[in-house]
Amino acid sequence: MKSMFPRSFVLPIALFSATLFAEPPTPIKPNTSQRDQYVSSLLKKMTLDEKIGQLRLISVGPDTPKSAVKEMIEKGQVGAIFNTVTRPDIRIMQDQVMQLSRLKIPLFFAYDVVHGQRTIFPIPLGLAASWDTQAVSTVGRISALEAAQDGLNMTWAPMVDVSHEPRWGRSSEGFGEDTYLTSIMGKTMVEAMQGKSPADRDSVMTSVKHFALYGAVEGGREYNSVDMSPQQMFQHYLPPYKAALQAGSGGVMVSLNSINGVPATANHWLLTDLLRDQWHFKGITISDHGAIKELINHGVAKDPADAVRIAIKAGIDMSMSDQYYSQYLPGLVKSGAVTQAEIDNAARHVLNVKYDMGLFRDPYSHIGAAGSDPQDTNAEDRLHRAQARDVAVQSIVLLKNWHHILPLKKQGTIALIGPLADSQRDIMGSWSAAGVAKQSITLLQGMREAVAGKATLLYAKGANITDNKKVQDFLNLYDAAIQVDTRSPQQLRDEAIATAKKADVVVMAVGESQGMAHEASSRSDIRIPQAQRELIDTIKSTGKPIVLVLMNGRALDITQQDQQAEAVLETWFSGTEGGHAISDILFGDKNPSGKLPVTFPRSVGQLPLYYNHLPTGRPYDYTHPNKYTSHYFDIDNSPLYPFGYGLSYTEFTFSPITFSSNTMMANGKIVASVTVTNSGKVAGATIVQLYLRDPVASISRPVKELKGFQKVMLQPGESKTVSFTLDKDDLSFWNQEMKYVAEPGEFIVMIGTDSVHTEDKAFTYQK
Ligand code: BGC
Repeated sequence: MKSMFPRSFVLPIALFSATLFAEPPTPIKPNTSQRDQYVSSLLKKMTLDEKIGQLRLISVGPDTPKSAVKEMIEKGQVGAIFNTVTRPDIRIMQDQVMQLSRLKIPLFFAYDVVHGQRTIFPIPLGLAASWDTQAVSTVGRISALEAAQDGLNMTWAPMVDVSHEPRWGRSSEGFGEDTYLTSIMGKTMVEAMQGKSPADRDSVMTSVKHFALYGAVEGGREYNSVDMSPQQMFQHYLPPYKAALQAGSGGVMVSLNSINGVPATANHWLLTDLLRDQWHFKGITISDHGAIKELINHGVAKDPADAVRIAIKAGIDMSMSDQYYSQYLPGLVKSGAVTQAEIDNAARHVLNVKYDMGLFRDPYSHIGAAGSDPQDTNAEDRLHRAQARDVAVQSIVLLKNWHHILPLKKQGTIALIGPLADSQRDIMGSWSAAGVAKQSITLLQGMREAVAGKATLLYAKGANITDNKKVQDFLNLYDAAIQVDTRSPQQLRDEAIATAKKADVVVMAVGESQGMAHEASSRSDIRIPQAQRELIDTIKSTGKPIVLVLMNGRALDITQQDQQAEAVLETWFSGTEGGHAISDILFGDKNPSGKLPVTFPRSVGQLPLYYNHLPTGRPYDYTHPNKYTSHYFDIDNSPLYPFGYGLSYTEFTFSPITFSSNTMMANGKIVASVTVTNSGKVAGATIVQLYLRDPVASISRPVKELKGFQKVMLQPGESKTVSFTLDKDDLSFWNQEMKYVAEPGEFIVMIGTDSVHTEDKAFTYQK
């Protein structure tokens, strides 16, 4: 479907006054022949050491203090810097290059700007839950602007690792379990962040990660291995990286996992045959932190020199936190184990992106003149609060709303209870870049403002995030990430009960802390931690209605709490303006429209559980249960909440599907349409989703696959016809011989507001 990558960048006018955001930027292709000439002549002037220097990415820190970095810069031994995030600090290093180094090749500066720089937006999983490309484009533009204004040229984003594994803490950083949704969101992010050109004052270059298949690590265990069939790889896991590259991402960060036994960092097939020769990627590849050294642990390199030889030959241009390229490449070139051409090739890629960043024209293009620095880097007026609030509203998913308990009325007495109700740090989520916790709005602040002068709001913490000492110590390993209340669990619960008893309704803010859904934060138990579960049990015993506000970075097992609560709102980690946005939804100032980008299982034991699975020879049918069918005998096969699911404060009804024709000819198209009506009483938006099934093919095809979605806003009683154009590409798949084919026969189209409740209709594809 051509609409797979719609150029839908017309931003809501109300959101932006600055012309900066008024128009979607149209990318300008760099003039590659001029660039090649420039880079070739520069390469001719460079010594081997200077070329190797360009391949080194350094972070200033205890191992490489400022004085050491200065010395390296002077000798032309550094290509780029990451993790330095203010203009004055960045300027010092660029000045050193321009004043002290022989060839004055500017550095570029990079950082993990994943969901905002100073203004923190919802985590990427939350962004995906918006199913709203305009919202994601807004996030990309503002993140790029704020990052560029801090002197940065590159971001380590977007992360487009499709994952079926909620145990994996990094599923918070991606766009969920679906290939199509992840591709669209990744592409949108790249186009928005790079704008017309990464050289522009309001843009940065992206570095799509983690190439490849990192989301499929075994058992969701961080840094683990991946073993995958080529069909699965090409059909479900590789397309998002390709979409981000087709959108022009200048960088690729290589993943830490192995793929069918070969670590990505050592994988010539992945980094050269596929990425360069088949996908024609011209930008840079960057190893992830420590990945070259880790080739020894992977068991594919015998010593550091061997690891360096393997990495550069596989296609790693730039070495992150480099200790090895600088130490071993000179000797390897001398011995002939690595060729001059291989070094030139990698250095050329680095210089190419510096050219595209405009650094040879103006090394200070993003840094600006000293006098122009913001007086206060964290000044309030540098934030984009209105946009952050709007995007956070779009990302919230209403999972349950028994007897329309939501929206709450701003009257009577409301209790807010839970360890996440007033945590400024946690609401920002992982990878919150240069965001400052003190500037984020908690749910307590948001609700206080919302009900001021109208209702009484009571608050009690009720529990710690966790009472498990081992987990507390893990979370607080580097700093006091979670505050552990010194009161006993019973004292905390007693206070919460007393608070709940005074209220008409209890809102409970529960879930995970920021550090529980992060890099290196895999969990074997994806429930809300026990201390909080016990708190919910306690509040339940008061008989007060419970509205559960979940804050978390993965699909959770909330089976028990879902039964206890009258309403459940999934808010992810919603960012700087999270507390305002959640209150907007709780009190009905805004109507929820988010949809799950991941399947919520009933239990961790069901994993992996994802909507686009293959059919089996013995499908389980719950209407006619049969012992010898594919299921667990102790739990339903179905998820607790399916992919694509989310409620609204209004109702939507769908007409039957109509087709422009019942037959699609080879190279033709068909248009599938439905009319959606807002049959409820309030205005609201929903996401109309189109799934496709190829019921008979030469290999088993998934029971359904998302192939299109559109967000529609409808007033009460209003109807709109929504159309999707399907073409051969939508029907195509990688067959047994790894050919990309569309096979003639029947195809079933399913359209609805989630992956389960759909209108279905079949058409025929004829060659
Ligand atoms: C992560 C990357 C990140 C890098 C730099 C690594 O540990 O895997 O995603 O971009 O650190 O911060």
